[in-house]
Amino acid sequence: MARQRQGQLHLGAFIYFTGHHHAGWRHPASGVEQMFDIEWYKKIAQSAERGKFDMIFFADLLHLIYPSRAAAGMLDPVALLSSLAMVTDKIGLTATLSTTYNEPYNAARRFATLDHLSKGRAGWNIVTSQVDTEAHNFGREKHPAHGTRYEMAKEFVDVVTALWDSWPQESLVMDRASGSFTDESKLRKADYSGQWYSTKQGLLNVPRPPQGYPVLIQAGSSGPGQDFAASVGEVIFTAQTSLTAAQEFYRTVNEKLVAGGRERGSLHIMPGLSPILGSTVEEARRKERELLDLIDPQEAVMMVSGMLQTDLSAYPADGPLPDIPDPVEASNGMKSRVQLIMDLARKDNLSIIELGRRLLGARGHMQFVGTPEQLADLMEEWFDGYGCDGFNIMPPVLPGDLDDFVDQVVPVLQRRGLYREEYEGSTLREHLGLSNPSIDHFKKLASLHQ
Ligand SMILES: Cc1cc2nc3c(=O)[nH]c(=O)nc-3n(C[C@H](O)[C@H](O)[C@H](O)COP(=O)(O)O)c2cc1C
Repeated sequence: MARQRQGQLHLGAFIYFTGHHHAGWRHPASGVEQMFDIEWYKKIAQSAERGKFDMIFFADLLHLIYPSRAAAGMLDPVALLSSLAMVTDKIGLTATLSTTYNEPYNAARRFATLDHLSKGRAGWNIVTSQVDTEAHNFGREKHPAHGTRYEMAKEFVDVVTALWDSWPQESLVMDRASGSFTDESKLRKADYSGQWYSTKQGLLNVPRPPQGYPVLIQAGSSGPGQDFAASVGEVIFTAQTSLTAAQEFYRTVNEKLVAGGRERGSLHIMPGLSPILGSTVEEARRKERELLDLIDPQEAVMMVSGMLQTDLSAYPADGPLPDIPDPVEASNGMKSRVQLIMDLARKDNLSIIELGRRLLGARGHMQFVGTPEQLADLMEEWFDGYGCDGFNIMPPVLPGDLDDFVDQVVPVLQRRGLYREEYEGSTLREHLGLSNPSIDHFKKLASLHQ
């Protein structure tokens, strides 16, 4: 049957600790003992590249959470991906970096370096961080307010892109005979004076990245998050639990994009998808059960408390969620995720413990249990139904679940014409069908709307 939508899916391999399932590290298939060993990451990155993924993507948090009962600790993702650039050729390399606890100059420099080292494969997952314990690690009492963080993030990205533009490739002369290294007349000093950040006559000490700008990715889905993505994002990572909700999100974000003067299709929407696969549904269910059996009930309650930022330990675990007064308003972390969790609990009338068990699988992202063919059906339905432009694949247990996706699902998607057989290009922008931004890209975009 003819496909209903042109084009192909984009895929990210979303790497989080030893896999996304909270108890996955305890499963015999996990590689937890190697989680700080470069050889382990090398295998994972090479597996994703074998599966022709657009990118591998590392999350990042700025504190140590649950170290006694969960796989904890993260290597610095920009440093880690700089090493992985040396053992991969094509796959995009996306690192998370917070705009709340970094300075633009450092961020611009680190990502420009990653883009040079990888010959144009860098992506930046722009986040604003989540909780007070992160603030405490940076000498601050409180995590800045949600709206303020997004205002800061917008300025931060403006400064970073201005710095990436400051030392254009064409200004590099490197003429031994004349002794001219850079044609200074072609430098574009970044002068920016904002409420949160400024740079005076700023010149980055790394030349403009091979992609112009590393790919700009945004991962927040609240109203301000969507506005931010529509203004500067080229990919948006999101959590969606049903096709209907995903379609609504897709429509809204695309409307914002077009209203802001950008072209439809210049922002790829990629929800998370955590698959538990089996050669039969029964086998997949068995695997799901094995993982669920590793969950301590108290941890499930702790997880819900943490995600809702409300202590639920005093309530019966098998009872319903108490009436929390406007938790979305009260949350200063992931507002869109709090909304998603509340909707999930109310819709299915879940007890606290049941809700916890759902969230421990993939923190509210969509979970799938079934065969590779069934998963391909779901992915096709979401793509053809304009619920997404691709997915962030979230293996519950690493490395085996990523290998299974590559070996069992990718060939089905390829057979259906939904996914590339080979990389056509060698930069992340080429994989995503995004052009290299010209100098002052965002300034030009802003001037369109004055
Ligand atoms: C797929 C995905 C990945 C994310 N990764 C991170 C991360 O690594 N570190 C982080 O601090 N926040 C991460 N976030 C959170 C967001 O960046 C954002 O700070 C948070 O969701 C608040 O935004 P919202 O209220 O607009 O949803 C992620 C969100 C999504 C959907």
